[in-house]
Amino acid sequence: MHVTKNAKLSTYHCIMKLHKSLIAISSVLILASCETAEISHETAKSLVYNCYSCHSPNASEASRIAPSMAEVKTAYLAKYGSKKAANNAMNAFVNSPSSEKVVMGEAMERFGIMPNMQYEKTDLQHIVNYIFSNQIDSREWLSQYNSGASSEPKIDKSDYSKLGRHIVMSTKKILGKNLKGAIKSQGTEYALDFCNTRAISLTDSMGVVLDATITRVSDRNRNPDNAASPEEVDFIEMYSTLIASNRDLSPILKGGTFYMPIVTNEMCLQCHGSGDEVSNGVRTGLDKLYPEDLALGYGVNEIRGIWRVDFGTYAN
Ligand code: HEC
Ligand code: HEC
Repeated sequence: MHVTKNAKLSTYHCIMKLHKSLIAISSVLILASCETAEISHETAKSLVYNCYSCHSPNASEASRIAPSMAEVKTAYLAKYGSKKAANNAMNAFVNSPSSEKVVMGEAMERFGIMPNMQYEKTDLQHIVNYIFSNQIDSREWLSQYNSGASSEPKIDKSDYSKLGRHIVMSTKKILGKNLKGAIKSQGTEYALDFCNTRAISLTDSMGVVLDATITRVSDRNRNPDNAASPEEVDFIEMYSTLIASNRDLSPILKGGTFYMPIVTNEMCLQCHGSGDEVSNGVRTGLDKLYPEDLALGYGVNEIRGIWRVDFGTYAN
């Protein structure tokens, strides 16, 4: 969590107020409590930004693409009994979503399994702690944080790692939404187009400002345009070794290019799996569209490829 100029300023105001009222507590304690308030404010924004685009509190039934976060929280508390156990289970699920860990079976049936968003572990811990220690469905909370205003985080434009991650996350959210919506409304066979990133314009404002482009490449590509370069194949192999031994998959920044791994989950297997997982209809569609398809035969939690963000003219 980074402390912004504003955060410092409000910490200062906070101290001044308390000093004026002459409360006899050590200033160290005061500082600590003011900073905690500021961190939780940042975490609330990060919860809305990272999770509410799918777990919206106010989407209509028809446009819903995931249960609301308040429903998820209730289901976890009911299943696990204590906040601590619910908290651990939620962290474990979001770090690597799988059907064995699912608590809300009906939601998974209806929306498909949650994509692996690869949040940073400490950011996620902050968010999950926050969910279990605040009234995230109260009217006050929603009017303060879920006002519909754009909640893009402030990122230093020279921090290409953060920017790269931000652009990948924004794209994943759009892609995840469109893909699930398409499968839900029209069935997998008709959803084939939706895995095409070129069909998605980069609406992310930071990407546009920085003239960044985002693509996905793979060592076992479906679309001939998405073939990885030899160096990128090395990155993919490195990530495959890391994921097999359950290690962290840190992004790579090389020159003006940022990479992040793409991990499969159960939903992907409808179009990238093997045997019965891929229906005959989907196979026929794929044969027609991609005669040189290499992207079948994956299992869950494998490296399907990498995201690549090129920073255009800004990086060198
Ligand atoms: C791209 C859309 C998307 C984003 C972003 C997203 N989720 Fe989800 N999430 C889903 C969908 C869809 C489900 C319902 C299917 C399921 O249970 O896997 C779900 C379910 C869950 C569940 C319940 C799983 C269960 O046990 O049934 C938890 C917990 C969860 N999400 C936490 C989070 C948190 C925390 C964040 C933000 C840090 C987040 N999600 C961001 C789509 C998303
Ligand atoms: C509805 C079918 C479908 C589903 C579900 C699906 N994909 Fe795809 N995927 C495709 C198609 C079709 C392409 C080729 C897109 C193109 O022409 O650019 C593709 C391409 C890709 C590519 C680009 C590299 C390449 O091989 O051309 C990646 C990476 C990828 N998919 C990952 C995933 C992941 C990860 C999931 C699950 C979260 C997933 N896909 C789910 C159909 C699907």
